[in-house]
Amino acid sequence: MPDMDNFKEASAFGVGTPQETAGFPLKGCGNLDWGMKNRLSRIFGADGKSLMLACDHGFIMGPTGGVERIDLSIVPLLEYADCLMCTRGILRSVIPPTNTVPVCLRSDAGTSILTNLNDNVVIAAEEAIRVNAAAMAVMVAIGDELTEAKTVANLYHTVDIGQKYGIPVMGVTAVGKQMTRDAKYFRLATRMCAENGANIVKTYYTEGFETVTAACPVPIVIAGGKKVPEREALEIAYKAINDGAAGVDMGRNVFQSEHPAAMIQAVSAVIHKGLKPDEAYQMFQDLAK
Ligand code: 5RP
Repeated sequence: MPDMDNFKEASAFGVGTPQETAGFPLKGCGNLDWGMKNRLSRIFGADGKSLMLACDHGFIMGPTGGVERIDLSIVPLLEYADCLMCTRGILRSVIPPTNTVPVCLRSDAGTSILTNLNDNVVIAAEEAIRVNAAAMAVMVAIGDELTEAKTVANLYHTVDIGQKYGIPVMGVTAVGKQMTRDAKYFRLATRMCAENGANIVKTYYTEGFETVTAACPVPIVIAGGKKVPEREALEIAYKAINDGAAGVDMGRNVFQSEHPAAMIQAVSAVIHKGLKPDEAYQMFQDLAK
C-alpha cells in the first residue's frame, strides 16, 4: 500500500479532452481482441452508444413492480433495446431463443440478505458461452466493509474468464446506504472497477459526472435508479450522455412507466439522436397517446 499521506486531491481530469480510442468507437477498448470488440460492437453499435434494458432486479428482490411477468413487460420492449441485462434464469425460462438482442448476463449470485450479497460466486465460463452472452455483469460494492473485498474478487475472477474467452465484463457499482453519492465516490468506484479489469462500468449519475467519466478509462453507462417522472428520467439520461456516458442501463424508469414502449423509445432518441429533454419528453407524450 503506498503512503497515502503524500497523495494530493485529484483535479487534472482533462474534461473536454477526449481519451484516444485507437480507431474504435469505445474508449479504452481499442486494444482488445477481435471477439471482445465484436461483442462490444453488438452492444454499443457504430455510434459507441447503447440503451441497455435492465430487468435483473428479481435476482435479489423477487418479482418487484414491473418484473412480475417479464414475458409480458420486458419481451415486448426488446425491439427497442440495444442490449438486455438479465439473469440466466430469466434468459432460459422467458426470453425467446430467437431473440437477437445481445445479452449482458448477470454473472454473480445474490441473496436477499444484503450483507451476504455476492459471496464469491460467479458464473462458470462455459455457462456464459453456452447462453451466448455478449457481456457479463458483476456487482462491486466499493466502500462497503462487509462486501467490498468479496465483490472485487468476483470482478477480478470474472475478468479472468472474460479475457480468456473474449467476453467483456461490466462492473456494476453498488452503492451502500451509508456511502455518499457524490462525484468523488463515483470516481473511486468506477476507476477501481476499470483498474480491476472491467471493460464497461455501470454507475449512477451525479453532479460533477463529467469528472467521473473523464477519470474512468473505459465506457460508463448509468443505471436509471428509482422511478422518477418521465421528464426527469429523460433529463438524467441526457445529462449523463452529455457528460460523457456511453449509454444507459435502465430498468425501473422504463418498465414502471405507464407507457414503457413510449419511454424506451424516447430514451433511445436521447442516446442515439441527441434529443434534448424537452424534445424527448414531447416524443414520449406523442407516442403515449
Ligand atoms: C442492480 C442493477 C440493476 O439492473 C440496475 O439498478 C438498473 O436498473 P434501474 O434502472 O431500475 O436502477 O444492476 O445491480
